[in-house]
Amino acid sequence: MPLTPEAAPLTGTPTGTPLGTPLGLPRLAFGGDYNPEQWPESVWAEDVRLMREAGVTMVSVGIFSWALLEPAPGVHEFGWLDRLLELLHENGIRVDLATPTVAPPAWFYREHPEALPVTADGVRHEFGSRGAICHSSPAYRAAAADITTRLAERYAAHPALALWHVHNEYGVPVSACYCDTCAAHFRRWLAATYETVDGVNEAWGTAFWGQRYADLEQINPPRLTPTVGNPAQELDYRRFADATMRENFVAERDILHRLSPGIPVTTNFMTALSQCDTVDYWAWGREVDLVSNDHYLITDGRRTHVNLAMTADLTRSVAGGAPWLLMEHATSGVSWQPRNPAKAPGEMARNSLAHVARGSDGAMFFQWRQSRRGAEKFHSAMLPHAGTESRVWREVVELGAAVDSLSTLKGTRTVADVAVLWDWQSWWAQSLQWRPSEDHDARERADSFYEALYDRHLTVDFAHPEADLSAYPLVVVPALYLMTQAAGDNLRAYVEQGGTLVVSYFSGIVDEHDAVHPGAYPGPLRDVLGLTVEEFSPLLAGQQVRVTAVDGSALVGDVWTEFVVPRGAETVWTYADGPAAGLPAVTRNRLGEGSAWYVSTRLGAGDLDALLGPACEDAGIAPRAELPRDVEVVRRSGESGTYLFTVNHTAAEVKVPVDAPGTELLTGERAAGRLAVPAGAVRVVRLDG
Ligand code: GLA
Ligand code: ZN
Repeated sequence: MPLTPEAAPLTGTPTGTPLGTPLGLPRLAFGGDYNPEQWPESVWAEDVRLMREAGVTMVSVGIFSWALLEPAPGVHEFGWLDRLLELLHENGIRVDLATPTVAPPAWFYREHPEALPVTADGVRHEFGSRGAICHSSPAYRAAAADITTRLAERYAAHPALALWHVHNEYGVPVSACYCDTCAAHFRRWLAATYETVDGVNEAWGTAFWGQRYADLEQINPPRLTPTVGNPAQELDYRRFADATMRENFVAERDILHRLSPGIPVTTNFMTALSQCDTVDYWAWGREVDLVSNDHYLITDGRRTHVNLAMTADLTRSVAGGAPWLLMEHATSGVSWQPRNPAKAPGEMARNSLAHVARGSDGAMFFQWRQSRRGAEKFHSAMLPHAGTESRVWREVVELGAAVDSLSTLKGTRTVADVAVLWDWQSWWAQSLQWRPSEDHDARERADSFYEALYDRHLTVDFAHPEADLSAYPLVVVPALYLMTQAAGDNLRAYVEQGGTLVVSYFSGIVDEHDAVHPGAYPGPLRDVLGLTVEEFSPLLAGQQVRVTAVDGSALVGDVWTEFVVPRGAETVWTYADGPAAGLPAVTRNRLGEGSAWYVSTRLGAGDLDALLGPACEDAGIAPRAELPRDVEVVRRSGESGTYLFTVNHTAAEVKVPVDAPGTELLTGERAAGRLAVPAGAVRVVRLDG
C-alpha cells in the first residue's frame, strides 16, 4: 500500500467516457437530495409537479433509507422505492440512487454493537444519529455489501437510474475509529506497508522515548496517551483510516460496477472542509467514475465566495480537470454553524453558477423539501416551509431556467492559469502536536495564497506535489511541511525547465514519515531555492515584523520568522526588525531557465500580492484587466465552444472586457467589447466561432 498516491494522472474517469457523467442526462444536473420517506406518499405527486416547475433534472434518493428498505434483518421493502422511481421516471427526472450505508438501522447495532465506532479516549458512540460506523467491522462490511447488492440487483436496469451515490461524505462525522477491530486491522495494514516490525520501528523513529516494538502485535491505534504520542504513528493512522474507508467504498463500487454496468458511481466529497481531516482526495479522485462534492458557505467573517471558488477549483483538480458535479449546497442558511444567516437575494444563483464556472456540470442542493422533523429542520431547502409563496422558491425556479440555458457547456473544461500545490497528507502531518508555533496553520497559508491569486483574477488548479507541473507558468507552494524527495526533485526540474515557483516558509521540512530531511532545512528545496534555513524563530502572539525592499516598499509579517542563509539566492525583501532583523525575508533564486521565490514570514493576502506581482512577471503572466477583486472571470472551453463566466460579487455594476463577440446565455443578448454585469449578477458569454 503506497504511502503517497502516485503522481499523474491524478484523475477519475475522464470526461467523454460514458462513465464520466450521469447516464441519460444531456443537460446540466439541477435538483437535490430528495427524502420523500419523511412525508406521506400523498405529497409525492406535488413534489414531482413542483420539480418540473423548477426545471429539476436529477434527484438523489435513498441516502438514509436503510431502515426503511430493510426494516428487520433480511426483510426487505422495496415497494415504496419502486413507486418513487417510477413516478420520477414518468416525469423525466433522472435518479442518483444512493446506497444507504451511512445509516445502518437500529436492529443492526443491537446485533452488532461492536460496529459502533470508538473514540481515541475509549468512548463508544451510540446509535441515534448517523455515520456511526467502524469501517473495519466485518459485520458492517457484510451488511453494507448485502444491501448494496440487493439495490443493484433490483434497480440496475431501471430506466430512471442515472448515477449511483455510494454512502454519504466519507470521513464525517467520524473520521477514525480506535476500537480493537481497528487495532487488528491497523496491524494488518502495517504488515502490508512495512512488512516487518523493524520496518515500523524505523519509519516511526521508535528509538525516541523508548517506544520500540518487538512485535506488530504490540502496536495499537494512537489512543489517548499521557502526553504527545508518536507523530509518525498518528500520521500512519490517518492513512490507515483513509485507506479503510476507501476499501469500503471500493467494495460497494465494485458490486455496482458488476451488477449495474454502464452506470457511473460517485460518492459525495467535501474537498475543502477543514473538519474532513482524514480523507486524501487525491487517492479518492482516482476511484470514482465522477467526482461530486458538497459545499456550504462557512460564515466565519471571511469572504465566503473565495472559499467557494477554492473548493470548486480543488474539486476540479481532484477530478483531474474533468467536469465534476456539485452534489450539495444550500439554497439559503444551513443549521449546523453557530450562526446561520440566510443568503441574500441572488446569492444562491451566484453561488451555483460560480461552481459551474469552475467545472461543475450542474448545481444540486441539500435538500428538495425542507424537513419538518429531525436534526435539520432549520436547514434551508429548494422548497422551504414557507412553500412556493417565498423568495427562495422563486429564486429556485429562476435558477432552474438559468442552469438550463447553459446546457451546451456540459463537458467543457475550466481553463486554469496557475497551480497551487496541495497535499492532504502534508496537512495532516503539519496539524500534529508540538510544532514550532501553534499559530502557524498550513490550511491558512493555502487559503491566503489562494485569496491573493483570486484577487488577481487568476484561475487556480491544485496539484499534487509529485504531479506534472510543466503546463503551468507559475506554481505556488503554501507551507507544504511534508514533502518527499521525489516532490523536491519534481519542483527542481520544473524550475530548471523555465517555471516560476513561489514557496512559503515551513515547506519541505519532513519526509513521508514526519522525519526531518537530513541536513539544514528545507532538505529537498535547498538547491531549488538557493538557501538554507538555520533556525525557525516564530513570533509571539500579536507580534509583527516589518519587511522592506530596496525600493522602500514595506510589508508586514506575523506568526513566523526564520534565519535564512542565502546560498545563491538574491535577497529581495529584508527584515527591518524582529528576531531576524537584517536577514533575508523574501528571496529569489534563478535556476536553469526559471526562478524560485521564497517567503520566510507570514504575509497576509494583501501583502502576498506584492510578492506575486514580480513572480507573475517572471512567469510571463500579464496583469488582468482592471476589475474589482470581487469579480471573477473564468473560462470553460471544449468542443461546444468557449464560455466566459463573469461573477460579480460586488454591489455595483462592472464592465468586463469580452475578448471576442458572443451571446450572453442568461439574457440571450449579444455581447462584445465591454459587457455590463449588474451588481451581484452572473453573465456567461458563449464566444462566437
Ligand atoms: C451534509 C450532508 C447532508 C446534510 C447537509 C446539511 O452535506 O451530506 O445530508 O446534512 O450536510 O448542510
Ligand atoms: Zn473500529
